[in-house]
Order: sequence, then C-alpha cells, then structure tokens
Amino acid sequence: MATLTLNGNKYPYQSNETVLDTLLNANVEIPHACREGVCQSCLMRSLDNSPPSLAQNGLKDTLQHKKYFLACRCYPKQDMTVALPDHEGNEIIAEVSGKELLSADIMRLVLSFEEEFSFYAGQFVNLKRPDGLTRSYSIANTPAQSNTLEFHIKRLPNGRFSSWVHEELAVGEKLSVSEAKGTCHYLPGKYDQPLLLVGTGSGLAPLIGIVNDALNKGHSGPIRLYHGSRDPEGLYLIDEMQALAENVENFDYTPCVSGENDREKFTKGRAHDIALSSTDSLTGWRVYLCGHPEMVNQTKMMAYLKGASLSDIYADAFYLSSSGK
Ligand SMILES: Cc1cc2nc3c(=O)[nH]c(=O)nc-3n(C[C@H](O)[C@H](O)[C@H](O)COP(=O)(O)OP(=O)(O)OC[C@H]3O[C@@H](n4cnc5c(N)ncnc54)[C@H](O)[C@@H]3O)c2cc1C
Ligand code: FES
Repeated sequence: MATLTLNGNKYPYQSNETVLDTLLNANVEIPHACREGVCQSCLMRSLDNSPPSLAQNGLKDTLQHKKYFLACRCYPKQDMTVALPDHEGNEIIAEVSGKELLSADIMRLVLSFEEEFSFYAGQFVNLKRPDGLTRSYSIANTPAQSNTLEFHIKRLPNGRFSSWVHEELAVGEKLSVSEAKGTCHYLPGKYDQPLLLVGTGSGLAPLIGIVNDALNKGHSGPIRLYHGSRDPEGLYLIDEMQALAENVENFDYTPCVSGENDREKFTKGRAHDIALSSTDSLTGWRVYLCGHPEMVNQTKMMAYLKGASLSDIYADAFYLSSSGK
C-alpha cells in the first residue's frame, strides 16, 4: 500500500482516494472548499516525486515547476512526501470597509487594501476566516478600483462562511485574501465581438464586473446579460441593470424567473434557455456562464452545440463545499 508523508507522519492511502481524502479521513486539517479542482484552496506541494499531471491542471507554470498540486485532484501512483504551501507570499490582509444588503439573502461585502490588488474583472479569490475556514467568492467590481474588492455573498441556511459574513463579520475587521484566480474574466481585444452572459443567483457578481470592464474599455459589440432565479426574490440590482441598459446602446439586460410569478418585468423561464433561444447561432460569440454548477455545465455544452468555439466559452461553476474546512 502506498504511503503519504506529511510533517513526518505517515498515512496509507487507498488507490481510489485523493491526497485530500486520505488526510481528511485521518483527521488532518487541510484547507479546502470546492473539491472540484476549481478554487485551488487545497494547494499542496510535493517534496519528492512529481505529482500526477491531472493534479496540476489550471496551476501557473511556476507553481507546477515547484511541484505544487491540488490535493482534491491528486490520485498518487506512488509514495509522496507532501507539505502545505508557504502562504506568506500570496495571501494579503484586507479590511472590511462596507457591508450592505442587496436583497434578503445577498450581501455586498467590500474589502479595502493598502496597496493595489491586481485582478481581471470576473476572477475570484479565496477568503479565509481567522479559524482557517476558506471559501471562494467572485469579484464584482473592475480593476479600475484596484484598492478595493466587492463581493455578492448569498447566505445559505446553516452555511458556515456565508452566515458568518452576513451575521458576524463587522466593518473594520480584517480578512485574509488569496491572489485573484480563475480564467473566467474579461480580456481586452476583439472589441466588436458579441458577448453573451448568463448567471444565476450570486453568479451575477462576476458578470457585472465583466460588463462594466468591457464598457469601460470601449467594447462596441452587443453585450447581452441574462440573470436568472427560481423566484423574483433571488434577483437583485434589477433597477441598476435596467438603468444601465437604458443608457448604453449596446447593452441588454434580461431578468428571468423560472418558477411561478406574475410580475411583468421578468421574463418567464430559465435564464440559459432564454439566452440561448435569443439568437440562431453563437458562432463568433464570446460566452460567460457563472453560478449554479448544473446550469453552467449544461449551458457550456449547449453553447458549444450552438456554434460557440470552446476557447470562447468562459465559465465559473459555484461549487459548494460538501464538508469540512
Ligand atoms: C469559483 C467559485 C466562485 C464562487 N463565487 C461565489 C460568489 O460570488 N457568491 C457566492 O455567494 N458564492 C460563491 N461561491 C460559493 C462559495 O464559495 C461557498 O461555497 C458558499 O458561499 C457556501 O459556503 P458556506 O460556508 O456558507 O456553506 P457551507 O457551510 O459550505 O455549506 C454548504 C452546504 O450547504 C448545503 N446547501 C447547499 N445549498 C443549500 C440551500 N439552498 N439550502 C440549504 N442548504 C444548502 C449543501 O449541502 C452544502 O454542503 C463560489 C464558489 C466557487 C467555487
Ligand atoms: S480545488 Fe481542491 S478544494 Fe477546491
């Protein structure tokens, strides 16, 4: 049986287990959140053998070279000696400078930094509580405001991090923030390319950042934003988005409600169905999908089948943590 060594302690692992499973099963506390290879909060480093390439997918070349890997994606083929990463270089302390309810369940959280924070509109960061609990949240503002980050955090019933943000975290308190991550972001260039953006729930957050950044940079192609929820209460910033759509000729906004509702201002149906049926073909379009994992993964495939090139589809599925730290 192969063995994992961490801090001199040895842990046997089963062939179908990840490094993260092995350590959590042995009650070793390892930061993690999505367990889907997305958030990178389970980053570890091999001190001997090279990690399997699947476990390094999405990591920067510099990290790959130093044998960093994602513990939730690492099925070791041989013995490994591993270590937790040295976080000093890539975690930054921020101060909570604003909290405001955008709807009954969505909190706008604003963090301020002493120095410029480098990111692309639409990326996400990992926020860490003083006790180590870590969760990913998408950035809702644009790099033009580089000393602050804005987030839209949906409160889940009994959700440990989101309830803490809503109920306990106070203005003036400090929070640890990772560097910006993810490839679902706006990149300048191809300014006349049509953009289709679909988000559910707090999936609106990165899309607002992307829309505003695109407009700031003079994007001239059509920009269509579809925001969906089962009920009207799940939508937010409706008036602001409608006002933007009235003022900006190439921007359209469609709030969609898939469940029962009798309010005229919402389009009835699922946001991704309505978005996809709004055009005959997506050939040449750039597509952004954020929010519920099922919606994101389904729509990715449907957008591709409708002609969008895979390299033009950018997606962030908001995977929830299934357990633990
Ligand atoms: C790349 C990425 C970006 C993200 N961006 C955002 C963002 O911008 N905004 C945002 O709000 N979230 C975002 N998330 C999700 C976020 O990281 C957390 O998973 C979420 O806030 C829940 O964390 P929690 O600690 O509050 O809940 P946890 O304590 O981790 O609880 C989650 C558990 O709650 C249960 N659960 C799930 N849904 C419900 C429900 N509706 N009712 C009751 N129980 C439920 C599930 O069983 C799950 O195990 C993102 C996730 C990823 C991976
Ligand atoms: S990438 Fe491993 S827990 Fe998110």
